[in-house]
Amino acid sequence: MHRRRAGDRDGAGGGGVIGKVGVIGAGLMGTGIAAQVANAGLPVVLLDIVPGAAARAVAAALKAEPAAFMHPRNAKRVEAGDLDADFGKLADCDWIIEAIIERPGAKRELYQRLEAVRKDGSIVSSNTSTIRLADLAADMPPRFAADFLITHFFNPPRYMRLLEIVAGPATRPQAVAAIRDFADRRLGKTVIDCADTPGFIANRIGALWISAATRHAIDLGLSVEEADAVAGKPFGVPKTGIFGLLDLVGIDIVPHVGDSLLASLPPDDPYRAVHRAEPLIARMIAEGRTGRKGKGGFYTLHRNGADRVKLAIDLASGEYRPAGKPRLDSLQVGAKDLRRLAEHPDRGGRYARAVLLDTLSYAASLVPDVAATVDAVDTAMRLGYNWRWGPFELIDRVGATWLAEALRADGRPVPKLLERVGEGTFYRVQDGSLQTFTPDGEYHDVVRPEGVLLLQDIKRRSRPLAKNGSASLWDIGDGVACLEFHSKGNSLDPDTMAMLGKAVAMGGKGAFRALVIHNEGQHFSVGANLGLALFAANIAAWGEIESLVEAGQKAYRALRAAPFPVVGAPSGMALGGGCEILLHCDAVQAHAESYIGLVEVGVGVIPGWGGCAGMLARLATAPALPKGPIPPVARAFEMIATARVAKSAAEAQEMLVLRPTDGITFNRDRLLADAKARALALVEGYQPPAPVTLRLPGPSGRAALDLAVHGFALQGKATPHDVVVSRFLAETLTGGPKADPLDEIPLERIYDLERRAFMTLLKQPATLARIEHMLETGKPLRN
Ligand code: NAI
Repeated sequence: MHRRRAGDRDGAGGGGVIGKVGVIGAGLMGTGIAAQVANAGLPVVLLDIVPGAAARAVAAALKAEPAAFMHPRNAKRVEAGDLDADFGKLADCDWIIEAIIERPGAKRELYQRLEAVRKDGSIVSSNTSTIRLADLAADMPPRFAADFLITHFFNPPRYMRLLEIVAGPATRPQAVAAIRDFADRRLGKTVIDCADTPGFIANRIGALWISAATRHAIDLGLSVEEADAVAGKPFGVPKTGIFGLLDLVGIDIVPHVGDSLLASLPPDDPYRAVHRAEPLIARMIAEGRTGRKGKGGFYTLHRNGADRVKLAIDLASGEYRPAGKPRLDSLQVGAKDLRRLAEHPDRGGRYARAVLLDTLSYAASLVPDVAATVDAVDTAMRLGYNWRWGPFELIDRVGATWLAEALRADGRPVPKLLERVGEGTFYRVQDGSLQTFTPDGEYHDVVRPEGVLLLQDIKRRSRPLAKNGSASLWDIGDGVACLEFHSKGNSLDPDTMAMLGKAVAMGGKGAFRALVIHNEGQHFSVGANLGLALFAANIAAWGEIESLVEAGQKAYRALRAAPFPVVGAPSGMALGGGCEILLHCDAVQAHAESYIGLVEVGVGVIPGWGGCAGMLARLATAPALPKGPIPPVARAFEMIATARVAKSAAEAQEMLVLRPTDGITFNRDRLLADAKARALALVEGYQPPAPVTLRLPGPSGRAALDLAVHGFALQGKATPHDVVVSRFLAETLTGGPKADPLDEIPLERIYDLERRAFMTLLKQPATLARIEHMLETGKPLRN
């Protein structure tokens, strides 16, 4: 994409190119949106009405957790300014995003001012969460109306994948197309078209769900813990449930969204009946108990000396009491079966039923007027509210007839769409294609945006080329195969290694021309299956463990030496063994949200599947590092000894875990297609890489590293077992006792050294204690 020149009068509408963005309102959303635009590599102007606020917001964003910037250097692309003094800086912006206070008057006044400075063809959008476009654009000149739309981001803008857009009757289609394309490819958003109705899709349903879940919990006498346990996991809602979620987003948001929706929804909208201004919530807000950002919320932590006790609010009295584990019979029987949960007679079951009926019937009543299709609704709730299943997927789980009958039994209207689907389901698979039930009473294929390739679609319409319990091999077309992990957390075990071996053998015989390693799990891979390792260690099955380590090295090295190109395509975590696979690929096409690192020392070992060798080989040829035997060793040691994990693909590139030439895809749905294209581009004339030799510093280098670790231990920064593990790491990375900086040694030697170090460390009780602790708590033990 080329950068447009400043002063170019042909705005984004012309060629559809967005080269510079303006954001007005440096609050929570505006700053986050500006950061994401900067992450995409574009210059941004960020203005706020409060002098100095934009600059302060950027400084704060640099410290935010989770990080708004994918790399701190991206903050330099954001030019912070003051609304009045710097308004002229919006003149050369192709897209101007308004993210100021949620007041129509203030927004419209700003648009009037914008008309005087913005260039022809530039696009203006509002990030309003509830106000209709018709209300924002009314009485504005035609020039504005043609260039105006709503782009509703979700908080936090970097991480939430949903973008709802609303175009008005006068909005230029080219302007909508330009924003859709930019948001999709550059910002990584899944764009959902919404009708111009208050709250659009996700907040409309989300607000009703929040009201229903709050009021029924109070009316049915549930504790907050019970409500969160029932309306959380079984519903596929994040485990915070409803009250934990409100603590997270801020309880003051509740009346805010409620009032705004009540002011604009149709008089007969079901939201009005479900919504109730809760005195408890008003009281909490008045007392500053707005959740995690305030003085506690529905839950709070009470410090009792060194101890911290979790408290929960009593919904009846509003007073705190110690939080407890919910004990409901309905949760026992219905944890995995929503319908059984909702049919249970105890208060948990009645609560589940009440929340389901309100939420699902409301969602069903909104198609097609608010959202054109059921999958638009489901996608919006999955990506905007982190639900595992959207409302229509939930209806399919409980049964459309069950829902309709339950509504009838309560004397409530059954939405037309639900009547129409009758005994059917909202989703079905026909001839290998996913279809949804549409308001016209027919099923239609779910159409993916152009260029989107999803493994789930391929899996629906074909059979694997090979498969075992942990991994499968799929034909993704054009002679490219995809190796998919599908174990828990995509952890790596003997089956994974066997499938890697099988893939190399099949590719070697010409079954495909290139291989992509990719999956659609939350995480690419959390690394080796620790449970298995611990089990084997506990029964002292050292021979078995050693052969697994060897098998892993063999599989990874075979991948490296395969006569066809291999491209890794991670998203989410790629840790330990997951990172080591990527180090053995010819190229990586990473999702921008990839968190990659060699974390083995956290469980008391060093990388044993070629992580040490792979990282050294990578660093030895990295143009970014000074030449000589020391810099690669020092760099690898620092990274591995501290178990550093990149918090984005951009950061992984800086760490050199990814090469500067590796690709980054912002939209997760485009990752597989991009990886496949990259693999195909490598096919012609492909030669496996030549064997690598290294010059390593040997014992003198090792002594220097040991000394450094000794220093850390004295400062209390390294624990006793850290020192032990670091010694083995130092010995491995410096090439072992016989290495000499004047000699070239084959990379092979590092594989041997790391494998032996791994086995020795695994036999140490302190290492086993770390593994056990990690398996139990998910956190490293600092022994
Ligand atoms: P915020 O209160 O954090 O930030 C608003 C910022 O705009 C403040 O820094 C304020 O000084 C500034 N501002 C107010 N009037 C201004 C004006 N006339 N010109 C320039 N700056 C002005 O608000 P937040 O949460 O960032 O919301 C902004 C917009 O985004 C609202 O329309 C809101 O409904 C919407 N939104 C909010 C979401 C959220 O989760 N908070 C999610 C999606 C949309």
